[in-house]
Amino acid sequence: MEKVDYDARLHAVYAAGRQMAPAAQRTWMDTFAGHLPTTRPLVWLDLGSGTGRMTPGLAEAFGGPVYGVEPSARMREQAVAHDAVTYLDGSGERIPLPDASVDAALVFFVWHHVRDHAAAARELLRVLRPGGRLFVQANFADLMPDVWWFRVVPAWREVDRAQFGTFDEVCHDFTDAGFSLAARESVRWARSGSLAEDVAKLRMRAVSAFELMDASATAAGFAAIETALPTMEDGPQYETNSLLVFER
Ligand SMILES: C[S@@+](CC[C@H](N)C(=O)[O-])C[C@H]1O[C@@H](n2cnc3c(N)ncnc32)[C@H](O)[C@@H]1O
Repeated sequence: MEKVDYDARLHAVYAAGRQMAPAAQRTWMDTFAGHLPTTRPLVWLDLGSGTGRMTPGLAEAFGGPVYGVEPSARMREQAVAHDAVTYLDGSGERIPLPDASVDAALVFFVWHHVRDHAAAARELLRVLRPGGRLFVQANFADLMPDVWWFRVVPAWREVDRAQFGTFDEVCHDFTDAGFSLAARESVRWARSGSLAEDVAKLRMRAVSAFELMDASATAAGFAAIETALPTMEDGPQYETNSLLVFER
């Protein structure tokens, strides 16, 4: 699978096209909190922090320092600043943090971009303290989210699916490194407040699958969406994603 380059086009559209409302962010933070001790502060690593969509939220919710590690300079340049957040140049395969230095780590819509899964899982194990938790949000080739544009344009779903390992493969990436699977959740969160907002974000093509399809597949999909839109229900648009919780 060709590597998606966030320094090329995606960095320019990501923050707007993947914007998450505060209520949606709370859904995720509350889910993480349910698997963590109630003591504060907790030190977090946000691996593949991108434009910092989740990073300051982790500092706010858990009261501690957060390290956002991100390989794309152009994503990192525009990352949302926060007093308790430090953004660092690095990657899953090379996390610039000391051994056993974080209480929790987040890998959020990132694992399919990591090339060397074994090396990255080893790095995550190294930087988490014993007993620490690793949260992995990922799609799986055998468990894709049921989003409306995949229903309207099944060809897009297949392009996206090709990026992901199966559920078993992703679990093994972590258990082979020494993690144990502590929990598996389905998290339903509000991706957009209305259908119009959802369509406007989709038109920005801030999703990596668009980097992997040719212009004619993109255009054909958006034409099918234009036809389908008048038949679709407006209102908040939800997405349900898998979250794996591993213990170190
Ligand atoms: C879909 S974005 C997710 C960003 C952020 N976690 C969020 O949810 O908004 C994927 C991010 O993974 C980063 N990435 C790509 N390869 C990576 C690697 N080997 N290790 C860590 N992050 C990587 C990309 O540069 C990009 O910022």
